[in-house]
Amino acid sequence: MADGAPLVEIKVRDDGPYKVTGPVRLVDPDGGTWEVPPGESIVLCRCGASQTKPFCDRSHREAGFSSCERAPS
Ligand code: FES
Repeated sequence: MADGAPLVEIKVRDDGPYKVTGPVRLVDPDGGTWEVPPGESIVLCRCGASQTKPFCDRSHREAGFSSCERAPS
């Protein structure tokens, strides 16, 4: 990056969550925060079935979630 700040990576997993590699700060509606240090990751639910939202708990497997879209280039 131009300013030398570490790059945040968001990786889309086929039929699964978003894997977010920090450094990043996740803030919930009540102001609760999760600090993700550089190089560490969290996985965020995108199927809607997780019991631990916003995090993935692998419920996407039982839910039969299917999504293999690719970002347009
Ligand atoms: S993407 Fe894994 S539980 Fe929703």
